[in-house]
Amino acid sequence: KETRDQLIIDAGQKHFGATMCKSCGMIYAASNPEDELQHVQHHHRFVEGIKYTGWKKERVVAEFWDGKIVLVLPRDPSYAIRKVEDVQELVNNELGFQQVVPKYPNKTKTLLFISDEKKVVGCLIAEPIKQAFRVVSEPTGPETPSSKECQRAWQCSDVPEPAVCGISRIWVFRLKRRKRIARRLVDTFRNCFMLGYFLRTDEIAFSDPTPDGKLFATKYCNT
Ligand code: ACO
Ligand code: ZN
Repeated sequence: KETRDQLIIDAGQKHFGATMCKSCGMIYAASNPEDELQHVQHHHRFVEGIKYTGWKKERVVAEFWDGKIVLVLPRDPSYAIRKVEDVQELVNNELGFQQVVPKYPNKTKTLLFISDEKKVVGCLIAEPIKQAFRVVSEPTGPETPSSKECQRAWQCSDVPEPAVCGISRIWVFRLKRRKRIARRLVDTFRNCFMLGYFLRTDEIAFSDPTPDGKLFATKYCNT
């Protein structure tokens, strides 16, 4: 019995150290076969990119010189929903979320940014909400000791404010970042959320932002 306990403890320790793959960005435990397999799959998909060959009935809501934005709604054909789920899985792997059972609640709206190489390079997932809590900027100035742990420790006001829409996920393919793809996704989303109305920035809320997400949201909402 004792040997067995020991084995379990060993395994636990091996799982402890997480590695981040420098090329695909996935965080995983290299010593865990299941994680490793998941990484290989993610890595492959990352290198290949998520292809988008075009749909017969696609809702193009914006067009740019380097791509276009397509809107996917809950009652769309299953090939469209499956594409969104593929993207979600890639994003979850990259952000280190647990695999979740794919589901597509009936009020979710998704925007996909399709590059001119016919790949999905950006994604915005939004849901209507009633209220949000404003993120209060850290009380200390820019000279704060900025350890990695501090990055996630911001405060939220405890006064709910009305909001119309929550952006539950925004993601841009690693190699396409800082080309204003996220900005164009949010702009387009504000424009097509409600017919004939352009959502104000204080009517949208970013839910549980990552450090990247927070930097983007702060910049976006101030300009
Ligand atoms: N660091 C500093 N400033 C940033 C960053 C960053 N990492 N990302 C964006 N900004 C600011 C910049 O000021 C930028 O303008 P500039 O390039 O002219 O200086 C401005 O925001 C607009 O940036 P975009 O080019 O539109 O943003 P991008 O297309 O690169 O996408 C995103 C930003 C979506 C956060 C991307 O970095 C990403 O996918 N990260 C990983 C996934 C993630 O963490 N998503 C957020 C999760 S939180 C949530 O979903 C609610
Ligand atoms: Zn990898």
